[in-house]
Amino acid sequence: MSSSPLSISAAAIRRDYQRQGFHLADAVFTPAEVARLCHEVQGGGAFRSSVTVKELSRDRVRSVYGGLDTSELLQRLVADPRLVLPAMELLDGEVYVYQFKVNMKAPFEGDIWPWHQDYAFWAHLDGMPRPDAVTVTLYLDDVTEFNGPMICIPGSHSAGLYPCVDTDAVRLGVDEAVRQGADVSSKLRYTLEPEAVRSLASDYGLFSARAPRGSLFFFHPNLPHASGNNISPLPRRQIFITYNSVKNTLPRPPTRPAYLVNPDTRPVVPRHEALTEA
Ligand code: SIN
Ligand code: MN
Repeated sequence: MSSSPLSISAAAIRRDYQRQGFHLADAVFTPAEVARLCHEVQGGGAFRSSVTVKELSRDRVRSVYGGLDTSELLQRLVADPRLVLPAMELLDGEVYVYQFKVNMKAPFEGDIWPWHQDYAFWAHLDGMPRPDAVTVTLYLDDVTEFNGPMICIPGSHSAGLYPCVDTDAVRLGVDEAVRQGADVSSKLRYTLEPEAVRSLASDYGLFSARAPRGSLFFFHPNLPHASGNNISPLPRRQIFITYNSVKNTLPRPPTRPAYLVNPDTRPVVPRHEALTEA
């Protein structure tokens, strides 16, 4: 795909992604676009998510999942060339939306995401054959040291899956763990063993994905990542879109619900359409 119109930045994205397991692009979306998207994901427009997840100990929205089909604006977003062309470049061809969510990380009360690798969930629970997917997160707020930035271990994605603590699934049994939201709450089902994280961080170091609103962070399914809580008075809202390669076919029907594993696997066709119009 070297002839794509994004070929210069695409080469940089590919190089970063292969070496570090991520690529951070500063302020790609304009303040007006970000404002419009914020309004939409907070329910001010047509968007109605499929599922709302609350923080475990508080009556605060932690995340919303699914519901793309309710919003023309968000359908335009997932087809926006700034997102989907790099995804197609990284995955060597057509992609579809595997998962859509927004993490709210509310001021004072946004809870942690423990250390994990996304592919542990997709491989063990969904039967995804290979980690040939990419997640891009769009920052709706400035993300600083204060409001719980995502942190990760650059370069550690290349060795596959690391040992996990499977506490919820072991303690509760898989069905009960699912019922209690162990895939979506701050008590994630597959978290990395602290010793594995310690040793990886000492080999590779840590990276804090801080950037202004409108930025994009593309990351590999095997990249170990986490985030702390948000004790600041500022929100840290981020949209997450996971694109999967159309060649990375999952067993059918999906075992997890549509808000976690989108059954609509039609390829996204890149298209330029304004995000600031109704
Ligand atoms: C995730 O791992 O899916 C989200 C991490 C975060 O929002 O900090
Ligand atoms: Mn994750």
